[in-house]
Amino acid sequence: MEKLIIKGGKPLEGEVEVSGAKNAALPIMASSLMADGLHVLEGVPNLRDIKTMISLLEHIGSKISWAGDLKITTDNYNADEAPYDLVKTMRASILVLGPLVARLKKAKISLPGGCAIGARPIDLHLKALEAMGAKIELREGYVKVSAPKLHGANITFDKITVTGTENIIMAAVLAEGKTIISNAAREPEVTDLACHLVNMGAKISGAGTDKITIEGVANLRPAKHKIIPDRIEAGTLMMAAGITGGNLKIKNFPVEMLQTAILKLSEAGLHIETGDTYAHVKAGPGLKATNVTTAPYPGFATDLQAQFMTLMSVAEGTCIVTETIFENRFMHVPELQRMGADIRVDGGFAVVKGIKRLRGAPVMATDLRASASLVIAALSAKGTSEIRRIYHLDRGYEAIEQKLSSVGADIVRAPDGDAR
Ligand code: EPU
Repeated sequence: MEKLIIKGGKPLEGEVEVSGAKNAALPIMASSLMADGLHVLEGVPNLRDIKTMISLLEHIGSKISWAGDLKITTDNYNADEAPYDLVKTMRASILVLGPLVARLKKAKISLPGGCAIGARPIDLHLKALEAMGAKIELREGYVKVSAPKLHGANITFDKITVTGTENIIMAAVLAEGKTIISNAAREPEVTDLACHLVNMGAKISGAGTDKITIEGVANLRPAKHKIIPDRIEAGTLMMAAGITGGNLKIKNFPVEMLQTAILKLSEAGLHIETGDTYAHVKAGPGLKATNVTTAPYPGFATDLQAQFMTLMSVAEGTCIVTETIFENRFMHVPELQRMGADIRVDGGFAVVKGIKRLRGAPVMATDLRASASLVIAALSAKGTSEIRRIYHLDRGYEAIEQKLSSVGADIVRAPDGDAR
């Protein structure tokens, strides 16, 4: 295992570029299963989750090469399943469900089970597939889906689900007839997938709204696609600049997709100027306590909640951070407390009372976004922090220590002999 050693107190200054979005790349890679021929994906970030998806697609039968662009061809299928070993490493493995059911009319997926941030069931994916004519069986930890004749349906999700919406769009694209998804997720990553599928010949309208209509087609063709920038990485970088008193130009910045975060961070005291594809973030004279409540897009992203809480832990005043998407997404709190933060959790609420400065400490990453919150905490803290279990971080932040050290951070990766 490895750890990050960060000496805090260096303002981030200079220019840094955002990578492609992991959560857009994953469903788009899975969608390549739906058409023979060569798919070419530009801007796929070099991350552990992407490598897990590559292993999964190769297990199913894809031939993949990755030098610059990611090239995927699936002309033969060896398997119709997502096995336990891969699903347990990455829940997003569930994204092959829709494509397999659409293309092979069957799929066998290991049930994901709970994870560090909550129970995260897939009942809504399965209920929607059932409405489209699929037969679902749960056996020995696997869900077996068979759908010799998948047909369109009117689907209303009880709760907004991102990968659920993506799976059902992919299943509906090759089903017979029309599917209407109501209460669909509006996340930009869903829209990016829909754009790619339309380039492949799918008939989809309404992506980016809460009502998506899909007219089934008989087949799709391969396509080339450039992945959108990662709005969560971009938001994390803004906060890293703000908490270190920095002055950072963030390039390949998805301005439209981050409107809510930009508003909140401006309210919290950051100066943010945006151009077409960049944001220039300057720390103000101090951070102000600002309440935030997570919500599905275009609300404040749950994937930025932990990082925002770090920022608030050194803001002037007291604020409430409310998490509404996942029931257990405050795992970073005990670690931030070890660095001196004054945070009290009550169910889905965290009351954060700002202190002057965090203190460096050894801390443990518990999930991907919690890891990012600890990194920005350490960047601003007095003294040295060691962040353990950074394999979580490597799931979702490309070349994080290179990017941060290029703008002035004192951060190194080292082997962790003391991994617990
Ligand atoms: N839910 C159900 N039943 C379902 C599906 C979801 O009850 O069948 C619940 C979940 O338990 C949760 C809520 O609905 O309470 C929303 O979950 P959603 O399905 O939207 O989450 P997801 O699709 O599993 C994606 C991202 C997450 C991100 C969430 C919310 C990918 C690969 N993952 O997860 O990203 O937090 O949407 O925006 O797109 C991350 O990148 O760190 C990450 C966790």
